[in-house]
Amino acid sequence: MTMQFFGTRGSNEVAVSLPLAYRSKSHWVPRIGDVFPDFTAPTTHGKLRFHDWAEGSWVYLFSHPAAFTPVCTSEMVGLAGGADAFAARDIKLMSLSRDTLDDQCRWCDDIARVFGTPVTFPMISDIDGVIARICGMLHEKEDPRLTARKSILIDPALRLRMIFEYPVRVGRSVDEILRVFDALSVSDELDVATPSDWQEGDPLLLMHTEDPRRARARFRSPIDSVLPYLHLVSED
Ligand code: BEZ
Repeated sequence: MTMQFFGTRGSNEVAVSLPLAYRSKSHWVPRIGDVFPDFTAPTTHGKLRFHDWAEGSWVYLFSHPAAFTPVCTSEMVGLAGGADAFAARDIKLMSLSRDTLDDQCRWCDDIARVFGTPVTFPMISDIDGVIARICGMLHEKEDPRLTARKSILIDPALRLRMIFEYPVRVGRSVDEILRVFDALSVSDELDVATPSDWQEGDPLLLMHTEDPRRARARFRSPIDSVLPYLHLVSED
């Protein structure tokens, strides 16, 4: 059972289907493990239905405050410049803000002209903030009119796997998003965890719930037991 929400002022093209179970008093609080709600929205690539567009691929969906602002411009340049790294991992990108499509396109023209980094992914124009409000992408305490710097990784089954939010004056790191994706991939593949600041090739961690004596059979290299609850293992 889902509820439908529609834009009213700037655009009646936005519609969000929110499972009833996600409905709290005013909005859904996105949580890791939730299926991301479906929505239709106008984007710089035309009108898209999110589930049709996203299903079967990893998606990095992010909101940002506004076009023609300095921190957002630097983030767009970083993401557009990282297009090959996202494509190599089969991650699709999609942005969301309350700007008009016209402003988003003019802003992208600036970015391509000045920085040489064309923005090739779709940008959602959520003028009324319908998706933003329902999906917890507004930040009432910073500026309720603007979308927050919210970052979400969604897996091919449409489940939310990572979520973080940055302050309006702090730009996000592309490397960190790719790092979390790589960590999730290895953790899914090998049923392990990754330590703080893990980078590809670094040792991995056994989950504290796994018996290291049993885990030995799963790995070729020896397990390094540092503490009774901390066991390092390498990927090969
Ligand atoms: C920025 O991206 O620089 C920005 C956007 C909205 C408010 C303040 C700063």
